[in-house]
Amino acid sequence: MRKLKKLPLEALAPFTLPTLPWDAPPTPIVWTELFGNDHPVEVEIGFGKGLFLTTEAARRPEVNFFGVEIVRKYQLYAATRLATRGLTNVRVACGDGRAILRDRVAPGSVRAVHVYFPDPWWKARHRKRRVFTPEFCLTVGRVLPPGGRLLIATDVELYFRVMTQIVRDTGPAFADLPPPPPTEARHDFDYLTNFERKFRKEGRPIYRAAYERTTAALPETPAPDPGLSGEFIEFRAAE
Ligand SMILES: C[S@@+](CC[C@H](N)C(=O)[O-])C[C@H]1O[C@@H](n2cnc3c(N)ncnc32)[C@H](O)[C@@H]1O
Repeated sequence: MRKLKKLPLEALAPFTLPTLPWDAPPTPIVWTELFGNDHPVEVEIGFGKGLFLTTEAARRPEVNFFGVEIVRKYQLYAATRLATRGLTNVRVACGDGRAILRDRVAPGSVRAVHVYFPDPWWKARHRKRRVFTPEFCLTVGRVLPPGGRLLIATDVELYFRVMTQIVRDTGPAFADLPPPPPTEARHDFDYLTNFERKFRKEGRPIYRAAYERTTAALPETPAPDPGLSGEFIEFRAAE
């Protein structure tokens, strides 16, 4: 991990969410209280080292960004980046993004959800760690108002097929949008995320999709997970 000048936890505190009392009955985060303004909110799940949050927060100061990352050292790394650049329109939480989105984000309260390069978790015994599942997709559909956006990117073609299938299985609640084109990368920080930089530099294809939440109702229950289908397993076997 690229070394950043260490900052004391007190310096990071304004950028991080204090550990929430996760055992208490979950209550939604009040964005206006968290950010001190009523700007629109965008969420990134699994932000890693936080390149997307840092770049976008600087580029769009009129938007609030909320990131959730399950690994504490990445939360602190991203918070250090944000504190160093004084990006007060971002807060980063440490926890399971699936649960935080489900339990702590009010319906229709965020303008976009970004999921970039989620781990595919190939092994059957790790599959329950996969972020992008039919349940997750329903949660995304719930937190986005009509017109809200879901953006995804991955280097794993099959996981891309699985994710896009999951969105399609959600029915008319999501409409396809043209995915944003790749950024022009003149500098190491011009990439979408750290993983995007790594894979583009390696010349690997990147698969991207974008969706708009429509006014259509979400299904009551999630569709079966296509990630559990024979095709998925066969693909791995053929690799
Ligand atoms: C392959 S990395 C991609 C990081 C970043 N999005 C990028 O593109 O550079 C996947 C990230 O998702 C995080 N992650 C995995 N499961 C998660 C979960 N349930 N909630 C939040 N973050 C999660 C991992 O810790 C890791 O940082």
